[in-house]
Amino acid sequence: MAPNAVEPGRDQELSPSLVCAISAPAAAYILAMSCRLAGTRVIVRLPEQRDAQAIARYFGENAQHLAVFSPAPVEYADPALWRLRIETMRRQYADGDSCLTFLFDLDDAQVIGTANLSEFVRGPFQAAYLGYSVAKAREGQGLMHEALRLLIDFAFGELRLHRIMANHMPRNERSAALLRRLGFVREGLAREYLRINGVWEDHVLTSLTNSAWRAD
Ligand SMILES: CC(C)(COP(=O)(O)OP(=O)(O)OC[C@H]1O[C@@H](n2cnc3c(N)ncnc32)[C@H](O)[C@@H]1OP(=O)(O)O)[C@@H](O)C(=O)NCCC(=O)NCCS
Repeated sequence: MAPNAVEPGRDQELSPSLVCAISAPAAAYILAMSCRLAGTRVIVRLPEQRDAQAIARYFGENAQHLAVFSPAPVEYADPALWRLRIETMRRQYADGDSCLTFLFDLDDAQVIGTANLSEFVRGPFQAAYLGYSVAKAREGQGLMHEALRLLIDFAFGELRLHRIMANHMPRNERSAALLRRLGFVREGLAREYLRINGVWEDHVLTSLTNSAWRAD
């Protein structure tokens, strides 16, 4: 095992440090068996079954807050749904399709946000989409910035991605400021890009590339 490596399935017991269990990859580019990233104020990790209640509570308590730019189905407030989705999310990670994580307080129990790398495309593209949200009560504290720094380092390091794409509505100023601070570059405007709350909304397209990417 490499330094930092742990036995698969035991990542929840580890001290706060970046955890990656290196093994023969199930999917060609997923090198880490799990994803658990600990910062000074936030933990970013794949969900486990024990998180179903806390995830449902996050979506229930933040439904109004998320409704403007990132509305979630009402079913997201139901822990039963998450018991199923958590399995899917973990399987998608193992299959090398996505890395869908939540932000946790340092108690590793309370969910305070979401951070998703989805739709991995390999071959000559090596890219994924980034989406995120933080609890209304935790906005304006730099927690998402800290979380995304961890996740981006993991994506460019362990997941060996070359491009992360993040898109936002022009009027989503908080999202725009966050991406700017993280170094994302504006690449254009996609007209009528996503249907949000029944309206086809234009989106600003941004991306961050990994200039240190290597093929081997
Ligand atoms: C988009 C969203 C995640 C941004 O969250 P955020 O808390 O503003 O983002 P950050 O973590 O970068 O925090 C930045 C703020 O924290 C402050 N801050 C405090 N301590 C900080 C620290 N140590 N480091 C960085 N910023 C810090 C910054 O000054 C800034 O304050 P401001 O709000 O006065 O400008 C949040 O608004 C959200 O969840 N919105 C709803 C869902 C959504 O829009 N998702 C994105 C769809 S594209």
